[in-house]
Amino acid sequence: VEPIRKICCIGAGYVGGPTMAMIAKQCPDIEVKVVDINADRIAQWNSDELPVYEPGLDEVVSESRGRNLHFSTDVDQAIADAQMIFISVNTPTKHFGVGAGRAANLEFIEKCARKIAEVAQGHKIVVEKSTLPVRTAEAVKAILAGASSGATFDVLSNPEFLAEGTAVEDLVAPDRVLIGGESKAAVDALVDVYAHWVPREKLLTTNLWSSELSKLTANAFLAQRVSSINSISALCEATEADVDEVAMAIGMDSRIGPKFLKSSVGFGGSCFQKDILNLVYLCEYFGLPEVAEYWEQVVKMNDYQKTRFVRRIVRTLFNTVSDKKIGIWGFAFKKDTNDTRESAAIYICRDLLHERAKISIYDPRVDAEQIRRDLADVMRNGDSELSAASEKLLNENVEIVTDIHEASKDAHGIAVLTEWDEFKDADFERIHNEMKKPAFIFDGRNILKNLPLADIGFIYQGIGFSR
Ligand code: NAD
Ligand code: UDX
Repeated sequence: VEPIRKICCIGAGYVGGPTMAMIAKQCPDIEVKVVDINADRIAQWNSDELPVYEPGLDEVVSESRGRNLHFSTDVDQAIADAQMIFISVNTPTKHFGVGAGRAANLEFIEKCARKIAEVAQGHKIVVEKSTLPVRTAEAVKAILAGASSGATFDVLSNPEFLAEGTAVEDLVAPDRVLIGGESKAAVDALVDVYAHWVPREKLLTTNLWSSELSKLTANAFLAQRVSSINSISALCEATEADVDEVAMAIGMDSRIGPKFLKSSVGFGGSCFQKDILNLVYLCEYFGLPEVAEYWEQVVKMNDYQKTRFVRRIVRTLFNTVSDKKIGIWGFAFKKDTNDTRESAAIYICRDLLHERAKISIYDPRVDAEQIRRDLADVMRNGDSELSAASEKLLNENVEIVTDIHEASKDAHGIAVLTEWDEFKDADFERIHNEMKKPAFIFDGRNILKNLPLADIGFIYQGIGFSR
């Protein structure tokens, strides 16, 4: 088998862009072309303002771009030229027809497979990089088998485990790289790509189906830890236990481990909810309703955590937030990313708007336009049009501001929804002076817990403890 010298990746998103930039950086002997049908996105990848904010990503991209890393909209040419084709397109939750609200929408994957079948010549290795339901490779293989040109294919599964905000470090030093496949030669070819920088013992090869299923399982287990600690946070608030102390105590048990036990306003991001719902759907599909119900509880607990946070704010602010300004600190689903997909902030803001609060939102990285789109989408609630009442709330009760002081001035309360480091260094004396009294802080991330906020005069509430 010839070593891989030309790679193409279909999908220049949060996964395709950073992963391919890392391959290009680590493998100067391989030409990497990232293609997308979204011309704006490709233009951004070719500019100084990348479409994805990730610490360290600018450096990785600029090192290889124009050398052996290229971004283009010419999907056909890239497929034709490549020996190995990664599919890294979006697989969102399906919102129509059979499986709506749970199943993954695989139309973009299928379109890629059909495109490859249409234009490929000779032999190609097709790599599933997107997160997919177990057995998707069967459908991909069936579509590729219909290639008119007589091209032949191997299909591999190589799920991506990077987390946003730490994508570059996760790609440089992954816990493991998982490759599932049927043909040893194809698996070895991909192993050799990663072996440019990842130690061999971290390159794990399995059968195709285990690889596909491991990705959904990993996300389900991670999200389950967050929901588990969040469930305990509610009990802590009722009993004077402190959830951070409980997390510390259980996390020192090496069988449990300390990571992913940070209680919060609820997990967000494009993956956890989508992947668990997909797992739930698969279990139902394969006739396993008890397993489906078990995992669905992780998402229900997350919804409960978000609702509970808003209820607590309303209760604490003397049972009404109507016409009161609430400063929203952070809108991204976690720090160090500009991504807002499924961010808890979207749902917290929606519920506060339904309580007729006036919200003033500040996030250091998220575009104002993105926040407006997210809020309009959630207020539309699946309808094609906004109701007049929702439109009025969005126009009159939402402002998006460019610094923390503007968000907090004259506010009755502040809700911290993303754990941005800069929030810890805020000028709390000034913020307190400029707020209505009593001045409340509701810390959905427990990042301000150790600051002397009570001494300044704030009434401070976090998640999973009472003071
Ligand atoms: P994304 O929406 O940021 O990017 C997907 C890109 O694919 C878009 O730019 C879109 O225009 C493009 N695309 C769609 N159909 C296309 C087609 N037919 N031809 C060419 N381009 C096409 O999505 P993402 O966050 O990068 O996620 C991609 C996949 O990776 C998903 O399956 C996701 O579950 C998985 N994943 C995501 C993360 C994460 O942190 N975001 C982590 C691991 C795995
Ligand atoms: C996740 C997986 O971690 C990653 O392996 C996979 O490839 C994609 O999905 P991501 O969603 O980018 O990554 O970020 P992650 O760090 O997992 O955080 C997800 C959400 O959980 C965030 O909203 C975060 O704030 C929240 N979280 C995480 C907690 O509330 N508490 C924790 O202890 C950890």
